Amino acid sequence: MKSFYDLDESARVALCEQVIAEKRTLSERWERLAVESTNGWSSRAGAAAELLVDCPEVADLGCGMMALEKLLPSNTRYIPVDVVKRDDRTIVVDFNKDPPPPTSARAAVCLGLLPYLHDVRRFMVSLKNQYSVVVVSYNPIEFSNSVTQRRSHGWVNDYSWIELESLFKAAGWNISTANNLDGQQVLWRLNS
Ligand SMILES: C[S@@+](CC[C@H](N)C(=O)[O-])C[C@H]1O[C@@H](n2cnc3c(N)ncnc32)[C@H](O)[C@@H]1O
Repeated sequence: MKSFYDLDESARVALCEQVIAEKRTLSERWERLAVESTNGWSSRAGAAAELLVDCPEVADLGCGMMALEKLLPSNTRYIPVDVVKRDDRTIVVDFNKDPPPPTSARAAVCLGLLPYLHDVRRFMVSLKNQYSVVVVSYNPIEFSNSVTQRRSHGWVNDYSWIELESLFKAAGWNISTANNLDGQQVLWRLNS
């Protein structure tokens, strides 16, 4: 496929609705991530790194171009996980099919990942079974103009801030911090 954002808005919405109907991952988009502009995500990675300074090992779930790695303390063991093999270290998993992999890390981070998952509740329950700290971002629906706008980004779910926090709690997580980053997304640190 062309780079996702080279498609016009109606084509992106149609593709996203198809992905929702089929409950699949748009892997062909993620294989081309390097050509999508990811610069806007570095401030989010910086805020996440600050919340992870006390974690000696971090599993980056949906690691993308691994902007986070360079922002963590240099002695942090970094474990990249993604649906696409980003480098030789990457553990390849599709979270729409399989749970997060067991790793030696107690902390996981999910930046810009939850909007692409069809069963966020199941994912958060699986995370709870393996990790004691999670730093996670999400774009709540009240920060969007419309559901159509969300679909045009490829986002397959539509939680409000309060709904997502209820889901986190139902999955067994305690909310340690919640920060409105830029009026578009919230960054939480969750503890078990
Ligand atoms: C919006 S990018 C964010 C990348 C990175 N976390 C950041 O903030 O710069 C989403 C990342 O999640 C990965 N991803 C999307 N759906 C996934 C899935 N079902 N299973 C595993 N990884 C997925 C993509 O390959 C991509 O690297």
